[in-house]
Amino acid sequence: MDNRPIGVFDSGLGGLTALRELRRLMPEENIVYFGDTGRLPYGEKSREQLRCMARQDLELLCGQDVKAILVACGTLSSNTPDLLDACAVPCSGVLRPSIEAMARIPGTGPLGIVATAATIRSGAFERALRQACPGREIIPVPCPELVPLIESGHVEADDPLLLDAARRYTAPLRQASAVLLGCTHYGIVEAALRRFLPEDTALVSAAACGAGAIRHILESRDLLGGKGEERYLVSGDPAVFEEGASRLLGRSIAGRVFRTPVMRITL
Ligand code: DGL
Repeated sequence: MDNRPIGVFDSGLGGLTALRELRRLMPEENIVYFGDTGRLPYGEKSREQLRCMARQDLELLCGQDVKAILVACGTLSSNTPDLLDACAVPCSGVLRPSIEAMARIPGTGPLGIVATAATIRSGAFERALRQACPGREIIPVPCPELVPLIESGHVEADDPLLLDAARRYTAPLRQASAVLLGCTHYGIVEAALRRFLPEDTALVSAAACGAGAIRHILESRDLLGGKGEERYLVSGDPAVFEEGASRLLGRSIAGRVFRTPVMRITL
């Protein structure tokens, strides 16, 4: 039993899709969420920048006395897996649990991956999926417009800009048996993506897979415990984050959002 919070972080709103799933799985846990909104989008950063940011983000959360960390970000999970493994507290990204889930998809049809440009460029999801599912066609699709659209409020399923991007990005995936939402932001616009894919295409959420991995860590190490408390740290405008997050979570997080300084990227 351990009442310290779980640390969760992402560049912005995306990791909240993982937080939502953590809440569903473990309503009692305390959570401290870091949204690095002063430095998003992560998907446009270089590998060197991402490595620096991952170190800083992990250190920030370790400083909050967390018992485990969920890196609720496909971009960091794919570009800095060694840093996650070396973390001082038990830590999971979204890559490994997502690949495990994708490997369970029955059939022989292609497997798609939608993710940020930096994630697709790293090749990490693609390589891991090829290894886990030999002989299956893998279709990686970078979707650079989605995170900026989501963070600027284009999230409704009938938003014309969002629909236009969703139609283009899903075009190569119409024959896929399953599509991995390899960026945690994409769960927010799942309805728009779903609209252009056949009904029987499975959508696998990297965010939900990551949340499941954290539950497994806490259960297996006897670390469960808490009072369902939440705190949010953001490096950008707290009011903007509070509004977007409250809308996404379907409940107000007023009074629980605190500003942290924007950390300088040093290369
Ligand atoms: N939500 C993150 C991911 O899963 C980061 C997106 C971004 O900031 O570009 O990749």
